Amino acid sequence: MLPVRIAPSILSADFAKLGEEVRAIDAAGADWIHIDVMDGHFVPNITIGPAVVKALRPHTTKPFDVHLMIAPIDAYLDAFAEAGADTITVHPEAGPHIHRTVQHIKGLGKRAGVVLNPGTPAKMLDYLIDMVDLVLVMSVNPGFGGQSFIESQLKKIAAIRKMIDHSGRAIDLEVDGGVDPHWAKRCIEAGADALVAGTAAFRGGPSQYAANIAALRG
Ligand code: DX5
Ligand code: ZN
Repeated sequence: MLPVRIAPSILSADFAKLGEEVRAIDAAGADWIHIDVMDGHFVPNITIGPAVVKALRPHTTKPFDVHLMIAPIDAYLDAFAEAGADTITVHPEAGPHIHRTVQHIKGLGKRAGVVLNPGTPAKMLDYLIDMVDLVLVMSVNPGFGGQSFIESQLKKIAAIRKMIDHSGRAIDLEVDGGVDPHWAKRCIEAGADALVAGTAAFRGGPSQYAANIAALRG
């Protein structure tokens, strides 16, 4: 397993100065920049679209980890790829054909991720594990930052770690939602190697970002 990668979610950044925030969190040691895209339909919140992703692209060379919470999803994949996404992560519930959606992302030359909601079983990955680059386990129901980590998801992380190891493929296992230093440790113990953090990464403003990220690494 790789050393844990920290992916701060800019959902918790100051939206009035996003470019500056991305530069600050990059300088503080972020490995990836996690971008939460919400449509007010698939999830009960609206955030940002491809134009904002494109505008942020010149502000960092770190990979953009784009988490799409939009439905229908397929019509927007090209736009996020062109905007500068490196990994595009999709919910199986967001379109009629998850296998085709993953094929499409791969066809765009991007890394493909599949994300499982707290109520979605690991089994969903059975026929996708041979093609994905990343699995994202939601440890909250998607839509908002600042929610509490749902402990039952640790068991799912451990089950997916086994599936990944069994596959022999290099697949990142990322966790998203309510991750603070306490839960970060539990996630890593369960087999995660990438952690999203919104609240815990951006807490306290730019002077705290490096310490926040260091604390999540444990
Ligand atoms: C929730 C988003 C998360 C969220 C994480 O729907 O996918 O990425 O921003 O924020 P925290 O770490 O505050 O739970
Ligand atoms: Zn997310």
